[in-house]
Amino acid sequence: MKTPKTVGVIGAGTMGRGIVQWLAQAGHAVLCFDAMEGAAQKGVAYVNDMMARAVEKGRMTAAAAAEVAACMRACPNIEALEACDLVIEAIVEDLAAKRAMFAMLEAVLRPDAILASNTSSLTVADIAAACRHPERVAGLHFFNPVPLMKVVEIIAAVRTSPAVVEQLRALVAATGHRAVVAQDQPGFLVNHAGRGLYTEGLRIVEDHVATVEEVDTLLREAAGFRMGPFELLDLTGLDVSGKVMESIYAQFHQEPRFRPSALVPPRIAAGLLGRKTDEGWYRYRDGQKIVSAPRAVPVPEAGLAVWIDEEAADRAALSAIVGAAGATLAADPSDDCLLVVQPWGHDVSSVCAARGLDPLRCVGVDPLPGLDRHRTLMLSAVTAPRWRDAACAMLATDGVAVTVIGDSPGFVVQRVLAVIVNIAANIAQRRIASVQDLEDAVRLGLGYPFGPLGWGDRLGANRILEILHKLQAATGDPRYRPSPWLARRAALGLSLLAPEAERHAA
Ligand code: NAI
Repeated sequence: MKTPKTVGVIGAGTMGRGIVQWLAQAGHAVLCFDAMEGAAQKGVAYVNDMMARAVEKGRMTAAAAAEVAACMRACPNIEALEACDLVIEAIVEDLAAKRAMFAMLEAVLRPDAILASNTSSLTVADIAAACRHPERVAGLHFFNPVPLMKVVEIIAAVRTSPAVVEQLRALVAATGHRAVVAQDQPGFLVNHAGRGLYTEGLRIVEDHVATVEEVDTLLREAAGFRMGPFELLDLTGLDVSGKVMESIYAQFHQEPRFRPSALVPPRIAAGLLGRKTDEGWYRYRDGQKIVSAPRAVPVPEAGLAVWIDEEAADRAALSAIVGAAGATLAADPSDDCLLVVQPWGHDVSSVCAARGLDPLRCVGVDPLPGLDRHRTLMLSAVTAPRWRDAACAMLATDGVAVTVIGDSPGFVVQRVLAVIVNIAANIAQRRIASVQDLEDAVRLGLGYPFGPLGWGDRLGANRILEILHKLQAATGDPRYRPSPWLARRAALGLSLLAPEAERHAA
């Protein structure tokens, strides 16, 4: 850390105490205030407990813990924050309360002190509007738990001075957290970029393409997400996440990409909120998710013949699976055989209709993300049980898990990834943040294995565009309309990480 600052933290709840710990560990003098009697003291005591545990586990020396303790002080009133260079507000998420707090702070602090809000859903400009000096007000949006979630969004509201943004960036960067700068737009950066996983996961379940558990399993095991959307919703609580979905949709003026799901309100009303109520999308016992028993794999069909589409992306790998399962390859789809296709963005039924294939015998296998991790087997609207079971048994012979889903343009993984990349492309188009800040914020804030545009590059911008076009054509839903930013890069064969042309000389 370069220059230790005196930083005030207002609100010593979940976020406030995390922010206090993060600042004190970086060596800043931290003054903590909370309106609730004794809450600030409790917040400081909580951090000291965390330090004591770290010392016990050998992760920290007693001397270092004592240094952290010496940095923190609980304050009895706001006036005690007078000497602060920066105050971070983490009180209740209520505009009137935050405005009143900022007015009190302006009366107490030096004119050059910075005021930052940890709001997650309010517009920072709205909070700053009541201030005499809105240019020194910014958002400083943390993630829970603050010391471990190594990204902080700096929100530059319309009147925030660039110098304030720079000072905040330097302070955050000096702690080892990644500072990303985002415009004062709904969801800022991480909550905006994270919409796709929820909205598309919910849409897939709403359409009865796959169950909650199947969607989560596929996104974890096939795509590489740390958690599926329904596991995440159970963790945060559907009441909290439901409000975020509604608020981002409303703040973007009913943008179809963020349209919430009708599945959510009845579940909130019924109290199925997630882990905190022991039942959400899953049921929990003693805090552990109750997992359903795996489905039995059907018995392989003796003498099975399989026709594989010439256009299949993984024809060689599929042929090897056919051989390993003791089945034979059929040369003609009109034979009495299983038909296997591997469409991008199409459902199996429309492939059958376009190519004159028998939908009773046809199944699709998702080319994403390759056949070695987890296989998605998609049925047409009418695939017969005999061929479904034969396909499932054949794909499972080498022990790789198989999930059977209903017909869907883009399976599960293609749909979700295309939607995520498209939303990220739109963020880049609108310059809500720089591409590098967007990529890092999503990896660090959401735990995705790749940044969304880098992930798009891995799949190919053209492929993403193709999936979106087909999804839009099949559903007629404008939520899938491709971002022009993505379409331009796909047309030029460019990386999604390629820098945008600057309009003027620097
Ligand atoms: P919390 O309810 O755990 O803590 C809020 C604290 O503020 C309480 O201790 C309360 O006594 C105190 N407080 C309330 N009104 C006050 C006032 N007028 N003056 C002084 N103290 C007051 O809430 P949490 O979760 O820590 O959230 C705080 C803020 O951080 C909210 O704006 C929230 O939207 C935001 N946020 C929350 C995240 C989370 O994961 N919980 C993530 C990022 C931002």
